[in-house]
Amino acid sequence: MKARLNELLRCPSCAATLDCHAFQTEADPLGAQAGAAYAEDVIEGLLDCSGCALVYPIIEGVPRVIRNAFDEYTEWFHHHKDKIGAIEGLESVAQQLGKVDSSRFDKRSNESFSLQWQNYQYGDKTWFKDDLALRKDEFLDAVKLEASELDGRMVLDAGCGNGRLTASVAKHGAEVVGMDLSRSVVRANQMRAEHAGDRAPFVHFVQGNVMEPPFAPETFDHIHTSGVLHHTPSTERAFDGFLKTGKPGGRVYVQLYRKREFWVGVPNRIIRFFTSRLPVKLLYSLCMLMAPVHRFLVLFVAKLRGEASPIQNTTRREQAVSLFDNYSPRYQYRYTPLEVQKMFEVRGLTGVRDVTFENEERHMVAFVGDK
Ligand SMILES: C[S@@+](CC[C@H](N)C(=O)[O-])C[C@H]1O[C@@H](n2cnc3c(N)ncnc32)[C@H](O)[C@@H]1O
Repeated sequence: MKARLNELLRCPSCAATLDCHAFQTEADPLGAQAGAAYAEDVIEGLLDCSGCALVYPIIEGVPRVIRNAFDEYTEWFHHHKDKIGAIEGLESVAQQLGKVDSSRFDKRSNESFSLQWQNYQYGDKTWFKDDLALRKDEFLDAVKLEASELDGRMVLDAGCGNGRLTASVAKHGAEVVGMDLSRSVVRANQMRAEHAGDRAPFVHFVQGNVMEPPFAPETFDHIHTSGVLHHTPSTERAFDGFLKTGKPGGRVYVQLYRKREFWVGVPNRIIRFFTSRLPVKLLYSLCMLMAPVHRFLVLFVAKLRGEASPIQNTTRREQAVSLFDNYSPRYQYRYTPLEVQKMFEVRGLTGVRDVTFENEERHMVAFVGDK
């Protein structure tokens, strides 16, 4: 974690700034060329809220600014107990840690998406697309901005998943923060240099919840979230949390799942009722097992419709990850274009328009607007 990222972070509980106590750091010679705030990475450390009693760990170079950090990283806290106890004001570690509140945390989402991105292998396609080339270009087309409008701007990718898109956006000249509730941010952070090249110092990752993003309000010039808000307990509240992070006048991009035809939507909901309650490892094994059957059905339906299907050129693992993405998450709400348009308009966004790609119209609905 760079000092630059810490400038942007705020406590998700009380919105105060976070004091950083580094236990282990690493120099970043490339980042040093951009200034002191980029010259060093904190690999292990603690963020101590200046306003309330909460503390957040920095583990493997990624700040974990989620309320349930102690529940999720109990071992880490115990391992560093002496170092934490030596920090002035945090002597009473047990007392401090006891105050971490996990009540607003969706454990299933975290567990499910963490496993999903662990099973995904870098080099695989994401959603049957090659991220680094195709998705980088698609990004501009999706958010309806020129590369020049991203140059030197701050961009948030909320629910960044494997972070490949996040890192590639930095190549347009932006400084990007990828945030995700799951542990996907660890590998995303490790792959920064590979995906962003000499723009790597301008790519940051944080574990955070879009329902209460750990940033100061109006931090980002443009905000982007694709396939995320509908996976939270309330899409509307997640939208509000996400929107707070954008600056007035900035571009807002939201992609959500589309309401499907009755004959697809109803069976999907019935199957999901059971699968989203299965242990995640068991479900992933079932997805691996069923991937060829699913592929056969998808190709069969595509043939009846006279369409080509992107599943044609995918591996079994790519199909299993995609199946798991559908069948595992606890929440998966779906929307019509009119419903999404209303979400933008009631929040006072202007220039609202449907920007769904033609080849994704069956599954997705995407809108942009200006805050
Ligand atoms: C379908 S994936 C999309 C990933 C990425 N945006 C993409 O387009 O490739 C959904 C992502 O949303 C993340 N997510 C779910 N709930 C979240 C929350 N409350 N806050 C932040 N991220 C969340 C998941 O961990 C997962 O990585």
